[in-house]
Amino acid sequence: MRIAPFKIEEWMNRYEESALIDLSGTCIKPMSVNELCQLSGTYPQKDGVFDLLLDYGKITGSDRLKSAIKTLYTEQKVDNITVTHGAIGANQLVFLSLLEKDDEVVAIVPTYQQHYSIPESLGAKVKLYFLKEENNWLPDIAELSQLVTSKTKLLCLNNPNNPTGAVIPNPLLEEIVDMASKRNVWILSDEAYRGLNLIGNPYSKSVADLYSKGISVGSMSKTYSLPGLRVGWICAREDLISEANHQRQYNTISISSIDDYFASVAIENQDLILKRNLVIQQQGLKNLIDWLKLNTEFDCVIPTGGTTALIKYNKNVPSRELCRKFQNRTGVALLPGETLEMEGYVRINFCAPYLLQGLDLLATYCATL
Ligand SMILES: Cc1ncc(COP(=O)(O)O)c(C=O)c1O
Repeated sequence: MRIAPFKIEEWMNRYEESALIDLSGTCIKPMSVNELCQLSGTYPQKDGVFDLLLDYGKITGSDRLKSAIKTLYTEQKVDNITVTHGAIGANQLVFLSLLEKDDEVVAIVPTYQQHYSIPESLGAKVKLYFLKEENNWLPDIAELSQLVTSKTKLLCLNNPNNPTGAVIPNPLLEEIVDMASKRNVWILSDEAYRGLNLIGNPYSKSVADLYSKGISVGSMSKTYSLPGLRVGWICAREDLISEANHQRQYNTISISSIDDYFASVAIENQDLILKRNLVIQQQGLKNLIDWLKLNTEFDCVIPTGGTTALIKYNKNVPSRELCRKFQNRTGVALLPGETLEMEGYVRINFCAPYLLQGLDLLATYCATL
């Protein structure tokens, strides 16, 4: 299968590790096993963690983990869930399950590149719908309705959005579902950042709960700060899950029993993790807002959720060149907008440590251009 280079992942592989201050990522301070155990009151010796049998385990995810995941939805049963190798594995399985050559897909961008590059690689006809800054990076239902037709098989969205940090308000999400339902279109909703809304209920409604052809993808990486577990899931109606499991036999077998165990512990203690993360997220947002007030040469729509923001730097320099030279000079890693099809912007993780130091260095550097 030929597929386009995954621009974000290639950039991060090259630049993230050597960064002194890393603003290029998307996670909220990943937890150690120790921190998770302390937070959740788990005692590895007493609770039998070291007696875990390292066999393949329950193939599509343990009952314990699926029951925990089920609590994140209002309308789902364990049979509507399959556990995957991260949200990245979940997205891929959805595309493999649904798409054939010449199928039409609409992807809302900027987004995670999987949403358009995998469909393209499968021979689908992909239409991109670009979110606009002047609309606070939210979809315009009239514009979207023109692109999504009865010929469309799948609409892909990401809510809360990486990179913009925009959360689609529930009423607009319901309008999108209504529009897709009238045209009989599947929706893949990548909800890797669900639970990280900064305003109101941290959890937006899930597309799987709203629509019979709604497919929700979840992850342990962002909301629960456990990217090293490599656990995600698909939540959708049973025929889609059955097809995903069929595809899954070829690339997953099962996830690690250790990952399954700690993911269960984490979701069962989600309130404590969310409380921890909300403090980091709110502080990061406040720092970003304060910095933007002092540095008016930069433009940014303030995120309403997630972990990232897109900053327009208003200089006539390509974003890859800016990020490369800036990191060489200062050690601060940013993600170039070009890797997200958004030239003229950089993505920052506003939840990252040393955010203000990194942003101040960016302001000083840009003043010299
Ligand atoms: C929108 C989105 N989907 C999926 C992923 C992959 O996440 P995971 O670590 O669960 O595979 C990412 C990672 O950055 C993401 O931002």
